[in-house]
Amino acid sequence: MNTKKTILITGGAGFIGSHVVRLFVNKYPEYVIVNLDKLTYAGNLENLTDIEKAPNYIFEKGDIADSTYIQELFKKYAFDGVIHLAAESHVDRSIVAPMEFVITNVIGTVNLLNASKEAWKNNFEGKRFYHVSTDEVYGSLHDGSFFLETTSYDPQSPYSASKASSDHFVRAYHNTYKLPVVLTNCSNNYGPNQFPEKLLPLFINNICSNKSLPVYGKGENIRDWLFVIDHARAIDTVYHNGKTGETYNIGGHNEWTNIDLIRLLCKQMDEKLGRAAGTSEKLITYVTDRAGHDFRYAIDATKIKNELGWVPSVTFEQGLSLTIDWYLNNKAWMDKITSGAYASYYEQQYIKR
Ligand code: NAD
Ligand code: DAU
Repeated sequence: MNTKKTILITGGAGFIGSHVVRLFVNKYPEYVIVNLDKLTYAGNLENLTDIEKAPNYIFEKGDIADSTYIQELFKKYAFDGVIHLAAESHVDRSIVAPMEFVITNVIGTVNLLNASKEAWKNNFEGKRFYHVSTDEVYGSLHDGSFFLETTSYDPQSPYSASKASSDHFVRAYHNTYKLPVVLTNCSNNYGPNQFPEKLLPLFINNICSNKSLPVYGKGENIRDWLFVIDHARAIDTVYHNGKTGETYNIGGHNEWTNIDLIRLLCKQMDEKLGRAAGTSEKLITYVTDRAGHDFRYAIDATKIKNELGWVPSVTFEQGLSLTIDWYLNNKAWMDKITSGAYASYYEQQYIKR
């Protein structure tokens, strides 16, 4: 039986955060879920319209990099737990403008750690600081090996360097102050509500509008794809059952080269849009590679499976089909996002590069 808890979820208006907020609000009516989000270009409250009126849900607009604001927030609510997802999350943007990544991902995380330490200092019983991180902190694989929880950090992009730094701070607060932390490092997520700067929603949107599909380099880079709702389930599992001080890797055992994944996407899109086979593949255009492009990520998720019993619930074919259907059925969501500032981002990233 669960007891009443007040949980702060940061970045809950973003892609993964919105799925985590929904899961917690619906599954735990006895909890109060406070969603703190700055509503950057990536934050979108329309991701949460189905639960926005739930009696156990509160939205707070604010910036995790603002230490005074964060301290006030921790005075306003007696948080029992923090699930920290707020971040600048796109590698290409980190290459163009790294400082935002330092400010939000590093300083923002340390502000949350300080506020938690301060609020909980006399009694850590029943408290938990959960830091959501990425497999990119482990660097780039060039052989057949996998990332383990014990793999040394070797971040290669400004984004992954900022996430690695935040992970180090979280562990340092556990070691130094005994703050009750838990961390997860997850592979590439896909699914509904992902901002169309990331590969799959960008390519789905471009296929719908018959725009070219910009494949970086030769399309040989490898990613390990996990359906976002399975990531949210894993976060629920680790938040409730993970061991304090531990790290758990989360992944789908689902590696694809970019070009094979894109070809599969094109095939499914042609079928769903009623286009002749091969139509969407003709949109594939090889463009200049991403600077410092990590070659391969691959997660070994044995620990979370053996210790906590979490395994993905959908196959990749199911997840990809559900994902495409969601974007095709939510054109208004995509059209709104791709109007305004998105056009200049797209121009900078893909037309002028
Ligand atoms: P996202 O970019 O879709 O969402 C990030 C959210 O954080 C947005 O709602 C944004 O408004 C908010 N935010 C940004 N800066 C903020 C600030 N200073 N203060 C408060 N809110 C702020 O990101 P995502 O893909 O959902 O990723 C969420 C987390 O999961 C990140 O920490 C990311 O590193 C991690 N992660 C992502 C993936 C992936 O494949 N997308 C995989 C593993 C881990
Ligand atoms: O591995 C987890 C990480 O996955 C998360 O921590 C990041 O927040 C998330 O953005 C994602 O990072 P990637 O860089 O792997 O994702 P992205 O969707 O940007 O790119 C996936 C692959 O596709 C990568 O090899 C680059 C390539 N790509 C991407 C874009 C946007 C292209 O070829 N063309 C593109 O236009």
